[in-house]
Amino acid sequence: EDDVREDLLHVLMSKEEIQQTVADLAAQIDRDYADKDVLLVGVLKGAVMVMADLSRAIRSHITMDFMAVSSYGSGTKSSGVVRILKDLETDLMGRHVLIVEDIIDSGLTLSWLKTNLESRGPASVEICALLRKPEAMKTEIDVKYVGRDIPNEFVVGYGLDFAEQYRNLEFVGTLAPHVYS
Ligand code: PRP
Ligand code: MN
Ligand code: MG
Repeated sequence: EDDVREDLLHVLMSKEEIQQTVADLAAQIDRDYADKDVLLVGVLKGAVMVMADLSRAIRSHITMDFMAVSSYGSGTKSSGVVRILKDLETDLMGRHVLIVEDIIDSGLTLSWLKTNLESRGPASVEICALLRKPEAMKTEIDVKYVGRDIPNEFVVGYGLDFAEQYRNLEFVGTLAPHVYS
């Protein structure tokens, strides 16, 4: 049986590094939202792993909801065109919203999403992203919680896909050139 790991060039963030980073983010969130109920909004599909681990590392009362948006389709470049594939079920009026993302690449998805959620009357909207690529960002975006800044390379694993593959890796890594050439 072929192993998806054989398509990886190198590990950027190991399983252990991810878990430590997620624990640190959860501790900050627990501090900042100590006296508030927070609604975690996971952005499908990339954020599934971060949502599952971050939510379990948070000690405060939280609720969860999910949105599905897509700006990438099956390619490796952001088109900047964001589509809502699945909307929230929760009324955001007066709620403290924390958007949970796997990665900020160009920033176009989150910039659009933050504005969209802010228009629904929440008490606050903040962002938590496991990864961010500062060199790739095309728009200014205020991100309260960032796990780690990474170089401008195409990465997969821990929710991140290439043509829908590799989301199930427990680590984040770069793809070997033979996969996409
Ligand atoms: C990826 C990733 C982020 C977004 C970041 O999602 O999960 O949501 O792109 O890119 P940006 O900062 O350039 O906008 P994608 O649209 O591939 O959907 P997916 O989560 O279902 O893979
Ligand atoms: Mn995504
Ligand atoms: Mg994707």
